[in-house]
Amino acid sequence: MHSVDELSSAAIERVMSGAAVHDNALSQPTARDALAHKTLILLFYEPSTRTYASFYAAGLRLGMRVLPVPVHNSSVLKGESLEDTVRTLQEMGDVIVLRHPDIGSSLRAQRVCRVPVINAGDGAGEHPTQALLDLFTIRQLGSVKTVTFFGDLKHSRVVRSLSKLLAKQGFICLMVPAHADLGLPDAPAHEWREVDTFTDVLYVTRPQVERGKIAVKYQVTKKMLERCKPTLRIFHALPHTDEIHAELEEDPRAAWWLQVANGVQVRANVLCHVLQARSRL
Ligand code: NCD
Repeated sequence: MHSVDELSSAAIERVMSGAAVHDNALSQPTARDALAHKTLILLFYEPSTRTYASFYAAGLRLGMRVLPVPVHNSSVLKGESLEDTVRTLQEMGDVIVLRHPDIGSSLRAQRVCRVPVINAGDGAGEHPTQALLDLFTIRQLGSVKTVTFFGDLKHSRVVRSLSKLLAKQGFICLMVPAHADLGLPDAPAHEWREVDTFTDVLYVTRPQVERGKIAVKYQVTKKMLERCKPTLRIFHALPHTDEIHAELEEDPRAAWWLQVANGVQVRANVLCHVLQARSRL
């Protein structure tokens, strides 16, 4: 799974409905051995907390063996290519979850690899499993029509994947770059004051400093939300830095811990889908 473009409506529904069963179901015996005897390889060239740990936890809950590859203590340091690393690892597992700084790396890896590769973020390219868990969380809230993305949109793989997935599902996606230089090249940009009163979800993104020099500072404050609907929810893929004011940390509109909580069950269903195991969750 490399891009949300390859997900049919049926595949999306399969992942969503499997994940809709309460998280506790993942600890039931039937779920526990859904992928028993399969090995999940975690290959992360970039830092990660949530994506890494939730795939790890999802694998364990499905009865999988999990093999995390310590990239920064591997032959990658001796200059080994991604292709050769993946060719090697396919002999040791059944599915590879890959995070890598280059756009298209997941597809590149898949070309030389017979086991499925799941894209856990390819540079500024895509992050399809984050998009699926965000869609799941948005549906859980009910009655969301308009999702407004705010911040550094240009370098965000989360925005790329989720806006495509939401558009396929009939949601309205609006782009409010924090600065003219931070917009998506192929999407019209709006001002926050044009869209604040009818936005249902405000999706805030971190300045992706590792992907470009970002000179502008921006921050979402309570004041910025004054004209918003009382039902507004604020999303963030995390980690957040200064782009969310500390005064919003405990705000009931903050939905990022809900997103985190949905990560394991959605990724467990992604693993079932990719390995064509009947999800028994
Ligand atoms: C995002 C990522 O790595 O793309 N985080 C995540 O996977 N939850 C967002 C980010 O790092 O800003």
